[in-house]
Amino acid sequence: MPAIVLVGAQWGDEGKGKATDLMGSDVDYVVKFNGGNNAGHTIVIDKDGKREKFALHLLPSGILTPTCTPVIGNGVVIDLAVLFQEIDGLEARGVDTSKLVVSANAHVIAPYNRTLDKVTERFLGSRKIGTTGRGIGPTYADKMARNGIRVQDLFDEKILRQKVEAALAFKNQVLAKIYNRRAVEVDEVMDELLGYAERLRPMVADTSLVLEEALARGSNVLLEAGQATLLDVDHGTYPFVTSSNATAGGACTGSGIPPTRVSRVIAILKAYSTRVGEGPFPTELFDDKGEFLRKTGAEYGTTTGRPRRCGWVDTVVGRYATRINGVTDFVVTKLDVLTGLDTVPICVAYDVDGVRHDQMPVNQTDFHHAKPIYEELPGWWEDISTCRTFEELPANAQAYVLRLEELIGARVSAIGVGPGRDEIISRHPLLDA
Ligand code: GDP
Ligand code: IMO
Ligand code: MG
Repeated sequence: MPAIVLVGAQWGDEGKGKATDLMGSDVDYVVKFNGGNNAGHTIVIDKDGKREKFALHLLPSGILTPTCTPVIGNGVVIDLAVLFQEIDGLEARGVDTSKLVVSANAHVIAPYNRTLDKVTERFLGSRKIGTTGRGIGPTYADKMARNGIRVQDLFDEKILRQKVEAALAFKNQVLAKIYNRRAVEVDEVMDELLGYAERLRPMVADTSLVLEEALARGSNVLLEAGQATLLDVDHGTYPFVTSSNATAGGACTGSGIPPTRVSRVIAILKAYSTRVGEGPFPTELFDDKGEFLRKTGAEYGTTTGRPRRCGWVDTVVGRYATRINGVTDFVVTKLDVLTGLDTVPICVAYDVDGVRHDQMPVNQTDFHHAKPIYEELPGWWEDISTCRTFEELPANAQAYVLRLEELIGARVSAIGVGPGRDEIISRHPLLDA
């Protein structure tokens, strides 16, 4: 059975967690392949007649499905304190986490990298990225500079000490001399990391092999991205990006599953746009319409609680996501949030200093200057949260989705009409028969 990739089409928080959860028991393995606890996925499920909300940061969303094996792939950076807090929190709520598998090659977020993330942002002042402050950037920087710490290093104390010493020889200079912070002791870091080793050991495996064997047995494997296309370090709005590959290509490098195994790429597109942190955002609204989207869509970060910047949907971004990820299916989420507007604008192209751009401008400066060119579609007022088929949607809501589909260049296979597990309209199956 082939592997399926699920990515965010915009700047994150599109509802990837809900979409993964939706596939539920049809998926045997859910793999997180990039990022770390910068991600925040809110999943709302009905349990014993009550609505329960789960916020996941590091664990793959598949953990809420009892039959699913969650996998943390080699492309992830792991804060071990957060990992165990999240496991304990879920166990306390009756979720079985015992199937979790963690790649021996995944990198570990060392405590000094959390510190460096925060002090670097403060140092940058007005030029800051607006990171989540979780140590993500410095840990990926260490990985590329070949002085990172991997999960497997925790099981060889001698090697771990050498690596921590080598890292701190440099980082302590930076912390003390540039940022005026206290130097970090090698033993302090060793104690913290080794403190997790024995609890972690039984979860650790060659996840690439585990997944290859699963695929050979005919299992369904879902590769779930953190962050999104425009936050990808190569294809996003650099430097206002995260430090990993959140696009479909990253699913292969971050899991060890080869591209020839991937049969589908599902992208999640919010029916409007949001962004957290700094960086260009052409359709951003600064008026009461933006406030309407924030309030109605409850657009406050799952990870940092920051209010999300809001704007209309941008199909230049949508088309770009289709191209970069090779999207076969879109899930359009939060269509319900757009209910009650006289007209719903769709950004179809940009005006960049008097020149029309139908595709993402190649230069970042042009993207910063991009003014959206809108098409206004008539709105709808009916409550759509109870609609379960496309035909039940008001005609104007149907027209909005069909126009989006046309502009982004791939079919819309499902539509979210509320946060709940069942608040979804399915048009085409997301998994191969
Ligand atoms: P992720 O990071 O992509 O997993 O998304 P987040 O969980 O950070 O943000 C998406 C938010 O939208 C969550 O609070 C979801 O419960 C909620 N959500 C997802 N789909 C829908 C939908 O179709 N309608 C509404 N109203 N909320 C949704
Ligand atoms: P999910 O998986 C939205 C943003 C941060 C910041 C930039 C870099 O929930 O969609 P980082 O801490 O990664 O170095 O921050 O990326 N960012 C996200 N924005 N959703 C996310 O994840 C994000 N993860 C990182 O706000 O602008
Ligand atoms: Mg999120």
